[in-house]
Amino acid sequence: MTDQLTVATADENAAGAAGPAPWWRDAVIYQIYPRSFADSDGDGIGDLPGIRSRLPYLQELGIDAVWLSPFYASPQADAGYDVSDYRTVDPMFGTLDDARELITDAHALGMRVIVDLVPNHSSDQHEWFQRAIAEGPGSPARDRYHFRPGKGTDGEQPPNDWQSLFGGPAWTRTTNPDGTPGDWYLHLFAPEQPDFNWEHPAVADEFRTILRFWLDLGVDGFRIDVAHGLVKAEGLPDAGDASELHLLDVAASPCFDQDGVHEIYRSWRQILDEYPGERIAVAEAWAPSLERLSKYVRPDELHQSFNFSYLGAAWTVEAQRKIIDESLAAMRSVGAPATWTLSNHDVVRHTTRLMNSISGDAAGRRPTAADPVAGLRRGRAATLLMLALPGSAYLYQGEELGLPEVIDLPPEVRQDPAFHRATGQDGFRDGCRVPLPWSGDAAPYGFGPEGGPSWLPQPDSWARLSVAAQDGVPESTLEMYRSALLMRRAHPALGAPDNLTWCEAPEGLLVFERSAPDGPAFRCTVNLTDAPIVIAKPGQALVASGPVDDEAAQVLIPADTTVWWSVA
Ligand code: NOJ
Repeated sequence: MTDQLTVATADENAAGAAGPAPWWRDAVIYQIYPRSFADSDGDGIGDLPGIRSRLPYLQELGIDAVWLSPFYASPQADAGYDVSDYRTVDPMFGTLDDARELITDAHALGMRVIVDLVPNHSSDQHEWFQRAIAEGPGSPARDRYHFRPGKGTDGEQPPNDWQSLFGGPAWTRTTNPDGTPGDWYLHLFAPEQPDFNWEHPAVADEFRTILRFWLDLGVDGFRIDVAHGLVKAEGLPDAGDASELHLLDVAASPCFDQDGVHEIYRSWRQILDEYPGERIAVAEAWAPSLERLSKYVRPDELHQSFNFSYLGAAWTVEAQRKIIDESLAAMRSVGAPATWTLSNHDVVRHTTRLMNSISGDAAGRRPTAADPVAGLRRGRAATLLMLALPGSAYLYQGEELGLPEVIDLPPEVRQDPAFHRATGQDGFRDGCRVPLPWSGDAAPYGFGPEGGPSWLPQPDSWARLSVAAQDGVPESTLEMYRSALLMRRAHPALGAPDNLTWCEAPEGLLVFERSAPDGPAFRCTVNLTDAPIVIAKPGQALVASGPVDDEAAQVLIPADTTVWWSVA
C-alpha cells in the first residue's frame, strides 16, 4: 500500500470531532479525461506519464483532488467505459507502475486521486463475457450477465422493450456455438458493453476485490459510473414507453434507480471505511429527483453524488435560487454535502451550454453556435457562483481555460459510439473531449510533442486559450480560477458550512451571504441578465468574473457577472 495523504488527515484527527470537516465535504475535485489531457509519447492520445508531468500545474491551480476517467484495459468502444480487465492499465495509457507513481506524486503535492469504477457493465472482451458466449446457453458463465431468450416464434424479437442509451434496442442477439441464432444479452449502452447481473454473488464479490485492489494501490476514492443502473427491476419488465432513453435523462424507469442498489453501496462503504485517510466514493446517478438522489449519500452509503439537476438549471435568478435551495435541503436531510458540477466529459461545456436556447435540457445535448464572448462571460459567472456555494465542487479539465464546446467536428473524426448509431439521439460528446491546449501557436499546442497528432483536431483559435497564453494574465480565465480557489480555501465563510442566506436584491441579481463564526462574512452577487445592474457597494471585492470598479459607493455589476465580496 502506498502512503496515504497524511497532512490533512493528521490535522483532522488532531482537531477531533469539533475540528475541520473531512476533506471531501468541501473539496474541489478536477476531472481528468486521460486521453485528452497530456500526451507523453506522441501517439496523439493522452496518458498517465503525461498527467504526472502536469501535476504541478494542478497543484498551482489549487484543487484538492483529481478524478481520472477510466484508464484500464479496454477495447475503447466507449472511450474506456468498456473495461476488459479492471486491474490492468491499458498500454495506451501506460502501466500499473505509472499509475502507482502518479498516485505517489499527487500525494506528495498534497492532492488526492480518485479513479473511475465501471460496475454496471464490462467490455464484451472481458474474460467473463467471452466465456459466457463461448460456452453457450445453459452455461453458468451466462448468469453473470443478463442473457434471455427472445420473443416471437423464433426468438427473433428482443426480450423486452428497453432501448439502449446510445440508440436502438438494449439487446443484441447472440449466435450459438453451433452457428444457430441464440439468446439475447442486455446492454444499456453499446453492444460492446454487456450489463452485469448484480443478483449474482460472484459479481458483487468481484467488485469488492476490485475496490480493494485500487485502495491498496493508494487511491483516495472512486467515481461510480452509472451508479443508479446496477440493479434492474425484477423480471426485467417492459418500460412501457418505447421512447429512447438518453444518457443524461432522469426519468423513472425499470432500468434505473432501483432500491436494490443501496445495499451494494452500504457494503462498499464498509470497505472504504476500513482504510485510513477518509477514502470516498461519488455517485454518477441520474436520479429522477433530488430526494431520490439523496438516498445515495445517506451516512452509511456513498459520500457524494453529482447534482445533475443543478447542471441542467436555466440561467435565471428563479431557476438558480430554486435549485440551490432544493439541493441544499435534500442533502441536508441526510447530512451530506452538496456536490456541484457544471461540466464533464458527457455534456456540452458550460461556456457554450449556458448560451443554448435549450438551457432547460439537462445535457444541452445538441450544442448550437453560441457567441463565444458572451458564452465565456456567462460561463465564468456560473463558475464563480458554483464555487461560492456550500459543499464540494467538481471541475472538468479545460474549463479553467474557458474552453468552449467544439461544435464543428467533422463526422469522420467523431468517436462517440452513439454518434455512429443511426437512431442515436445523443452522440455529440466529442465536442467537450478535444485535447487541451497547453502552449504554442499551432496544434497540438503542447498536448503532445511539437508537430505530433491529437486524437481529435483542436481548433485554430485555441492558441490564445492555452495555459501558457493565460498564465499570469490577470483577467484570464485561468487566473480567475486560481484566485477563486485560493480565496475559497482562505475565506472563513466559504467551503463546507451549510450557511447560505439569501439577501434582498434588485430584479435579475442573485445575492447570498455566508457568515463565519469569527471573521468577515462573505457575499456573492450574480447578475444573471444581459444588462448591467448598479448596487450599493457591499464590501471589499475579492474575486470577480468581469470588470468591476469597487472604488465608488455605487458599483456597476456588468451583465452575466459574479462578484465575491468580503463584508465587514
Ligand atoms: C457514464 C459515463 O460518464 C459515460 O461517458 C459512459 O458512456 C457511460 N456512463 C457508460 O459507461
